[in-house]
Amino acid sequence: MCGIVGYLGKRNATPIVIEGLKRLEYRGYDSAGLAIIDTEGDLKVFREEGKIIDLERIMPAPEKSFGNTGIGHTRWATHGEPTVANAHPHICCRNQIAVVHNGIIENYKLLKKKLISEGHIFVSDTDSEVLAHLIGYFYEAEHDLVTAVKEALKLVEGTYGIAVICSDNPDLIVAARKGSPLILGIGNDEFFITSDVSAIIIHTKKVIYLHDDEVVSVTKENFEITNIDNEVVKAKISEIDWEVSSIEKGDFKHFMLKEIFEQPTSVENAFRGRLDHKLSTVKLGGLNMTPDEFRNIEKIQIIACGTSWHSALIGKYVIESLARISVEVEYASEFRYKNPIIPPGTIVIVVSQSGETADTLAALREARTRGVKVFGITNVIGSSIARETDGGVYIHAGTEIGVASTKAFTSQVTVLTLLGVLLGRMKHLAPTYGKKFLEELKMIPNKISEILENNHYIRNIADTIKSSTNALYLGRGFNYPVALEGALKLKEISYIHAEGYPAAEMKHGPIALIDKNMPVIAIALKDEIYDKIISNLAEVKARNGRIITIATRGDDSVQDFSENVIYIPETIDVLQPLLSVVPLQLLAYHVADLRELNVDQPRNLAKSVTVE
Ligand code: G6P
Repeated sequence: MCGIVGYLGKRNATPIVIEGLKRLEYRGYDSAGLAIIDTEGDLKVFREEGKIIDLERIMPAPEKSFGNTGIGHTRWATHGEPTVANAHPHICCRNQIAVVHNGIIENYKLLKKKLISEGHIFVSDTDSEVLAHLIGYFYEAEHDLVTAVKEALKLVEGTYGIAVICSDNPDLIVAARKGSPLILGIGNDEFFITSDVSAIIIHTKKVIYLHDDEVVSVTKENFEITNIDNEVVKAKISEIDWEVSSIEKGDFKHFMLKEIFEQPTSVENAFRGRLDHKLSTVKLGGLNMTPDEFRNIEKIQIIACGTSWHSALIGKYVIESLARISVEVEYASEFRYKNPIIPPGTIVIVVSQSGETADTLAALREARTRGVKVFGITNVIGSSIARETDGGVYIHAGTEIGVASTKAFTSQVTVLTLLGVLLGRMKHLAPTYGKKFLEELKMIPNKISEILENNHYIRNIADTIKSSTNALYLGRGFNYPVALEGALKLKEISYIHAEGYPAAEMKHGPIALIDKNMPVIAIALKDEIYDKIISNLAEVKARNGRIITIATRGDDSVQDFSENVIYIPETIDVLQPLLSVVPLQLLAYHVADLRELNVDQPRNLAKSVTVE
């Protein structure tokens, strides 16, 4: 979703901001822009629809757009179409102040009306432009940019991460946040502002994560963080602990493929250091809970969106099966508005790769308002969700750039499965089971690698379904959410309509769609409900459906009704999703690639949805 990059230092801001914006392309956007204060002290603004490359086309050569102070933005349209006029930065009437904004100004209509009555002229349909005029309005009175920004923000309702420059103060960037991430990067005699550290990591690993209602003013020499009431804030400098290579594609054609192939390592990172072989259990210290607190959990509500919601659903199956604790899984957007019932003894877990999804964050806050303990399962260290929860577990998947989540999903599932075992062992689960689980889990990374060896075979299958208009994914039990995830992957990046269903439920509707053209992708692994799903597939076959089966290695019987079979290694039931999803990720990837689509940045989607 929208991204912010700002630079202030001795170098030319333009190429640094442009490069930073390119690093944020993965988040999803539909227009981009940049403002600099040039060596003459003039504010220069460039904006374009489409991609950064389109913005570069309309810009003068970097040496002709030289300035030490610059801010840039990638916009994912919310209010107003992705046009040049709606792209950021927005400027005040006097052409002095430029603002980039992430988030939504909820009371913009009211503010806009007032400003228009004061003579301000608006040129866009956005909510964000109101900030440029409002800051301009206070700047005229105060002639102090920091004060003007604070006064303006006091009137604003909604969420924001903003960066502001003013041609009267060429050596100053003012930035602020509320509900939308913003980070100060500290270099050698230079500073960066960004909404996502990926944009600046090639320049510095020293960062300060701003908190809500904080305002930072940055000059070439120094920075100061204050809150909206002018109290000075003592901020903590953090060190980013990942490498630039994690945001490079390397030899892979797409980030998504790279991330699928990283899963043997990312899954291992999710459980490394968390296995207790002595007691045949699991340790999750970040939850900050005592054994008694664990044992007193009567109910769990897991809240998430998108792919994280699917991992949450697997978490439900695992926790209910191993710990016999009832688990409810909610869409964050539904939870936050439905006056949820949270019975005593409940804990809430929010699952979010980015840790910034607006609905999940709002649901977390709603749960905490009701006095419930909320735990987070996130990937991004220092993210809003990580900071606002009572405790949590990082999945350590490394940066995920492809919009379609893959390695974050398997890492989330790993952590939720660990939680299931931990809770189970606190209650009635036998040590022999714990031991078996730990042994099986340790073999998962190698088993994923074995599945990845089928990459070319899966591409050939993808070639046979690439022109389909619909696809049906079927699974049962632990693999029902995997079917949902497989269908989501396909629709997200290939734009083929796909649905996931619990296999038996197919009879109650989707069976009407089955014909020789629609691929049915079925997960039919050797487990307790194997026979049941085989019967469901017989029903598909009887209607001339073409079946692609994910089966347990050595199971020849599925050949009879399958057009193609993708074999995966055997494991215990609760760990099956970590294996069965991998061929589905590859299948979706290859279909999209064979259709020559933009796999890493599918249309209309955003990596991190920071608006409702
Ligand atoms: C967006 C992304 C999905 C992701 C979902 C939830 O829709 O495109 O890949 O699953 O947000 O994101 P989160 O960061 O909260 O897991």
